[in-house]
Amino acid sequence: MTALMTDEEVIQRVLDHVENGSTDLGSDVWREPVENYRSQARFDLEMELFKRLPMVYCPSAALAQPGDYVARSLAGVPLLSVRGDDGIVRTFHNACRHRGMMLAEGDGNVRGGFVCPYHAWAYGLDGSLKNIAGKGGFPGVDVAEHGLKQVATEERGGLIFVTQKEPISAGALDLLPDLIESDQVVFEYTSFTDEANWKLLLETSMEGYHIKALHHKSFYPFGFDNLNVVETYGTNSRIVFPFKRIEKLRERPQSEWRAQGKLTYVNQLFPNTRLATLSNHYLLVILEPVTPSSSRWYIYRLRRPDADDTPEALERAKRDAAFLKDTGVIEDRAAACSIQSAMAGEGNEHFIFGRFETSAVHFHQHLEAHLDELEGLLDADHFGEVPSRTDASNRLRQHVNVLA
Ligand code: FES
Ligand SMILES: [Fe+2]
Repeated sequence: MTALMTDEEVIQRVLDHVENGSTDLGSDVWREPVENYRSQARFDLEMELFKRLPMVYCPSAALAQPGDYVARSLAGVPLLSVRGDDGIVRTFHNACRHRGMMLAEGDGNVRGGFVCPYHAWAYGLDGSLKNIAGKGGFPGVDVAEHGLKQVATEERGGLIFVTQKEPISAGALDLLPDLIESDQVVFEYTSFTDEANWKLLLETSMEGYHIKALHHKSFYPFGFDNLNVVETYGTNSRIVFPFKRIEKLRERPQSEWRAQGKLTYVNQLFPNTRLATLSNHYLLVILEPVTPSSSRWYIYRLRRPDADDTPEALERAKRDAAFLKDTGVIEDRAAACSIQSAMAGEGNEHFIFGRFETSAVHFHQHLEAHLDELEGLLDADHFGEVPSRTDASNRLRQHVNVLA
């Protein structure tokens, strides 16, 4: 587990930056080939990577009770996660073992298990096949062998992680701090598609260098332009967006400094998830790539457990949420879609990420390292010389350690 800076340390660093007119700086400028945003081959490789990493599937709070389920695609594969009577979350391929119909869509609760809509084969919350309707018509079909196909699932730090294939990077979750408390409540959920590559959409929250230009009327009246504290941990990063009212803390003793209401923490969880700690709620954003030029958003808004359980507290959380989505996030989405449209031309061979854009540089460095590693594995598989996954993971770890 990684120790990130404390609130007090972050606030001190922000106040120093305000005084000096500075911001955290990375060491590198990164040039990312535009082709990496539009190539189908690159997209396919990224999706293969998504199957071999522990990927955030949903928050624990979306599966609070036994029988609660969430069905969605991950790396293009329809999956179904459900909390069992034993409290354990399991994930299955969302495909009936008779003739393959999906057992559920969206989310809900099925305390008694899943019944296939096509011919009513029935499954338990643990994926086992409980009943074949008209069993006499299936001589030789062993019920015990026709449970749903399961994929690896881990519940950790308030999040559900799913790994579909043997992971390329052993221990990828080791560096992850506990990010949200387990007693969170989802108070809002939305999902929609944007016509932009998933990386373009993610990159919008990876730097504060665009606050004044893009968010002149939305975020800039409240926040600083190009003033961020950035920490990296493993493949992930945490970027701090301070509000101007943080300056009021200068008059207060350090022992009273609290981040809540004074800054936003945005954790970029490699590769496709962002978790923001806002004044009165958490925002969990998962971007599921659909094609190289379109992506599906899964957005969960969770209430902090320390929020008092009153209608006023819920109103405050909803106000937070509206402030973001009705203003600045629309501008971010529009920027990503604009870039996507412009990529139809030949205006750029590379996009340039500067020293203010550390979190994005970190993301691209790790994505490239992982895809290189994966390509090596796939080539070896192709020629029948499968290297041990442990060796590959160690090599990747060394690479990641150098970058971290
Ligand atoms: S496809 Fe599910 S019962 Fe037939
Ligand atoms: Fe933005």
